[in-house]
Amino acid sequence: MQKFVEIFPDRTALIERGLSLVLAKLQAAIQSRGQFTLALAGGNTPKPLYEAMSTQSLPWENIQIFWGDERYVPPDHPDSNQRMARQIWLEKVDLPESNIHPMFTGAGNPQVDADRHEAELRQFFGVSDGEFPIFDLILLGIGDDGHTASLFPHTEALRVKDRLVTVGNKDGQPRLTFTVPLINHARCVVFLVEGEKKCSALKQIFAPEADEMNYPARLIQPQGELWWLLDRSAGSEIER
Ligand code: 6PG
Repeated sequence: MQKFVEIFPDRTALIERGLSLVLAKLQAAIQSRGQFTLALAGGNTPKPLYEAMSTQSLPWENIQIFWGDERYVPPDHPDSNQRMARQIWLEKVDLPESNIHPMFTGAGNPQVDADRHEAELRQFFGVSDGEFPIFDLILLGIGDDGHTASLFPHTEALRVKDRLVTVGNKDGQPRLTFTVPLINHARCVVFLVEGEKKCSALKQIFAPEADEMNYPARLIQPQGELWWLLDRSAGSEIER
């Protein structure tokens, strides 16, 4: 694993860097493999990045969009990560609907929908049981409790090693989430983190020793590149 940490003076600079990094990985992936497989983060931090992506002129037919996690709500619910990315970005570009791979949340049973998305990922990437798809880039954020995707502290989801998708749990609310091993098989993982609320969690995530069950983002050690893009208020405690 190669780890990179970059701290920026403000959100604008952070998002600009995030955009340049995504575009660089996108171009390299399409050049060498003909497609770019990208998993999106939810939450607020990535919204300006998705906005910026919507203004780019790109070979959309070669770009495949997934989500690293999803709230267990209908796709038109205000909390839906799929709805957020479609409204801010995907509906504004010529991305074929067949290139958009949301986590279905309509079975009324999160485990059933987790299994369904797992099967969809295995089919898309052509991987069988025991193998893990290799995403070109997985975008992640962190919560102020140190969670990432929907891998929340001290939850069962943190221990799942033999699945691609599992059921997360946020204060009793079910979520669907990529598992730690799926994320760690990625060619590139990019954390986008801003705001002083994330400062203390980041300190623990970067500390030489800390409980991974308490700070799940510590579990993210991808086989490829790990990028931490921080604004100064989030990264103020990180030794460089
Ligand atoms: C989600 C995200 C989640 C998010 C963090 C940070 O579904 O909410 O996947 O992991 O990245 O909670 O959220 P903010 O960017 O809103 O602080």
